[in-house]
Amino acid sequence: MPSAVLIGANRGLGLGFAKNLLRAGYDLHATVRDPNACPELMQLGVSCPLQLHVYPFEVTSADSRRHFVDNLAISQIDLLIHNAGIYGPPKVPLGTLDEETWKQVLWVDTIAPLLLMQDLLPRLRAAEAAKIALLTSKVGSIADNDYGACYFYRSAKAGLNAAGRSLAIDLTPEGISVILLHPGWVRTDMGGVAAPLEVPESVAGMLQQMEQLSIQTTGRFVDYSGAPIPW
Ligand SMILES: NC(=O)c1ccc[n+]([C@@H]2O[C@H](COP(=O)([O-])OP(=O)(O)OC[C@H]3O[C@@H](n4cnc5c(N)ncnc54)[C@H](OP(=O)(O)O)[C@@H]3O)[C@@H](O)[C@H]2O)c1
Repeated sequence: MPSAVLIGANRGLGLGFAKNLLRAGYDLHATVRDPNACPELMQLGVSCPLQLHVYPFEVTSADSRRHFVDNLAISQIDLLIHNAGIYGPPKVPLGTLDEETWKQVLWVDTIAPLLLMQDLLPRLRAAEAAKIALLTSKVGSIADNDYGACYFYRSAKAGLNAAGRSLAIDLTPEGISVILLHPGWVRTDMGGVAAPLEVPESVAGMLQQMEQLSIQTTGRFVDYSGAPIPW
C-alpha cells in the first residue's frame, strides 16, 4: 500500500484529496488543526479504519511540527501533498499593508511547507521514488500578474514557487520529484461561491498530474489540467 502524507485535510481541496487517496488505496496520514472538529474527514475513515491516520498539526508552530513528525507512524513517504494555505484578508489596499498579517501569510504559505519537508526528508528518501506536491496559485505567478494588488498572497505563493523550484533541482539526484500545482479557481471557503470549478474535478486533475510526475518532469508549475503556468 503506497503511503501519502496530506497537510490540511479537513475541508476544501484537502478533504477532496483525502477522499480520492483513500479510494485509490493509499495508507493516508492526514493532518488537521483540530482532530475533534473534522467530522467529514473522520467519517471517511469509518469504512477503512486501518487506512486513515489523523494527526493534529498547526503549521506555524515549531512544537506542533515536532510533535507531528515524531508521531508520524511511517518510515517512508511515497507522496507528500502540502495543501494547507491561507489567502489572508481580502482586498487590503496599498497603504494599509501590515507586518503581522503579512508575516502570517508568509509563514503558512511559504515557510511552513519547506520546514516540514525538511523534517520529512529522511522518510521521503526512504521511499523508492517519492513525490512532493506543493499547492500554490497562479496568483503567485509574476509573469501572469497584470492587475496588481493582493500583496500578501502573491508574495507568499511566489516565494513558495521559488523555493519549490530549488527543491526540485536539489532533490533530482536523489530521485525525489516535485510539482507546483495551481488547482484552478475552485469553489471552497477560499475560492468562494463564484468559482467555476468544483473540488472533485480539480482534485482528480491534480492527482493525475501527481501520477504523471517523474524525475524527468520535476520542477514544473502547472494547473490541475497539466497546463504550464509562466513563473
Ligand atoms: N480554492 C481556490 O480557488 C484556490 C486557488 C489557488 C490555490 N489554492 C490553494 O489550494 C490550497 C487549498 O485551498 P482551499 O481552497 O481548499 O482552501 P480552504 O478551503 O480555505 O482550506 C484551507 C486549508 O488549510 C488549512 N490551514 C490554514 N491555515 C493553517 C495552519 N496555520 N495550520 C494548519 N492548517 C492550516 C485549513 O485548516 P483550518 O480549517 O483549520 O483553517 C484548511 O484545511 C491552498 O494552499 C490554496 O492557497 C486554492
